[in-house]
Amino acid sequence: MYQEFTPEVLVLPTPKDVDRYAAGCVIAQINGKHDSVLTLPTGATPQGMYERLVQLFKQGQVDFSRVTTFNLDEYFPIPESHPASYAEYMKTHFFRHVNVPSSNIYLPNGQAESAHTEATRFDRLIQQRGPVDLAVLGIGPGKTCHIGFNERGSQVDSRTRYMPLDPQTREANAVFFKDPNEMPVGSITQGIRNILEAQRILLIAKGERKAWGIKRSLTCKPSSDVPASFLRFHPDVCFILDEGAAELLRSKYIALKK
Ligand code: GLP
Repeated sequence: MYQEFTPEVLVLPTPKDVDRYAAGCVIAQINGKHDSVLTLPTGATPQGMYERLVQLFKQGQVDFSRVTTFNLDEYFPIPESHPASYAEYMKTHFFRHVNVPSSNIYLPNGQAESAHTEATRFDRLIQQRGPVDLAVLGIGPGKTCHIGFNERGSQVDSRTRYMPLDPQTREANAVFFKDPNEMPVGSITQGIRNILEAQRILLIAKGERKAWGIKRSLTCKPSSDVPASFLRFHPDVCFILDEGAAELLRSKYIALKK
C-alpha cells in the first residue's frame, strides 16, 4: 500500500510566470547543491523554462558544471539527429547554451538496437548516479495524463522500459514532425517508480487543454488510468499551473504557495 499525500498546487496568472517560477526552482536547487541530479522534460510546455534558464546562466546566476541530467524519455526508434528527437530538442533549447558537461548528460538512445537492452542500461545509470534531486515533468495531452511517456496502463512500480504511444499522444505530437508518417509508434521512458524516486517533483502545465488532465490527476483515486495521479504517492510534489490549466480546479487549490 502506498501512502497518499496532498500535492502543493501553485496557480500563476500567465504561462510566462510558470516558466519563470519553474526556472527559479531549478536554479534554487542547483545553487543549494552544485552537483544536483535532475530529471528533465521535453514538449512545448518546458520551452519557456529552458529559455529562462539559459538567460539566467548567461547572467551568471547559475553554474551547471557539476550538474547531471537524465531525460524522462525519447521516441523509439528515432535517429539522434532527427529534428524531432528529444536529443535534438535538448541540444536546441538547452544544452548548446549552458555548461552541463556532455559526460553528465543522459538520454535514452532512440537508435539503440534493442529498446529493452537500452532501457535496462538507462535504468541502471539512473540508479548509479541517483537519487535524482529534482524531477521536472509535463503532463500528456487529452485523456492520456501521461508523465514521461508512461501512458495509461502504466503501473506504479514501473521502471524504464519500451512504451507504445497512445493514439492521442501520436496525434498531439505529430505537429513536431514535418512528415507525420515519420513519427515513431513507441518510446523509451523512465517508469513511474523512477519518477517517484526523485527527492522532489515539479509538474508544469499551461493552457486549458491540460485542465481536464490536471483535475483528474489531483482528484481521482490514483490509478494507472491516470498515470499523473500516481504523483500523489510522493510527499514533495508541486503542480505549477497557469490559470488555463487550473480552470477546472476548485478554489481550495488556488495559490497554495508554501
Ligand atoms: C510529451 C512528453 C512528455 C510531456 C508531454 C507534454 O509527449 N513525452 O514528457 O510532458 O508530452 O507535452 P506538451 O508540453 O507538448 O504538451
